[in-house]
Amino acid sequence: MAEQRATPLRLGSIAPNFDAETTKGPINFHEFIGDNWVVLFSHPEDYTPVCTTELGAFAKLEPEFTKRGVKLIGLSANTIDSHEGWIKDIDEISGSKLNFPIIGDKERKVAYVYDMLDYQDTTNVDSKGIAFTIRSVFIIDPKKTIRLILSYPASTGRNTAEVLRVVDSLQTGDKHRVTTPINWVPGDDVIVHPGVNNELAKELFPDFKIVKPYLRFTPLPKEKTSAA
Ligand code: BEZ
Repeated sequence: MAEQRATPLRLGSIAPNFDAETTKGPINFHEFIGDNWVVLFSHPEDYTPVCTTELGAFAKLEPEFTKRGVKLIGLSANTIDSHEGWIKDIDEISGSKLNFPIIGDKERKVAYVYDMLDYQDTTNVDSKGIAFTIRSVFIIDPKKTIRLILSYPASTGRNTAEVLRVVDSLQTGDKHRVTTPINWVPGDDVIVHPGVNNELAKELFPDFKIVKPYLRFTPLPKEKTSAA
């Protein structure tokens, strides 16, 4: 009989809950999320070169995630003991201090539920015996809804600035009823959400410009500061 696969996760799915050991102690994932945004990202294996550079980069950028109410949590298919030794190398090489938890998923149970494995199955290992948990990224909002899923090949390191940019786009969109165009970065004009008609757009975004009836750009409204 064919192996039963985990239910596919899609944008809009509730992030599956799990209990796990991490480098910061045991967690229940939904309790860990609490009222925060979370970036959950996986690695194929400890003590591998690309993963080492990625974790150093996430550790360096963690203060920017924290400012946005985002908690980071990594996952690698090894034991906590192995992670702890590896973190020393990561800190030494990157000059960072890795403070966020890394899940010990030696059995790849979390990786399986989150579809972080490649095409084969949980027995899949490469010729050197490396367990192929792929490079996945999940951005999860405070309602525990999955808002972004990325899958990268083992050979290609991710881009931490891009993960942060998506957090900015999602948080901006949620707050202002806007979407963000190609290559948008904070400070650039945004797009008025197609669900907002021109009358309402005039109220919400007095400086909006109609390029086409379906493409309307606007600067973000200035934050109102309360008088002291
Ligand atoms: C790496 O992180 O460098 C890596 C991990 C697994 C397979 C290939 C590369």
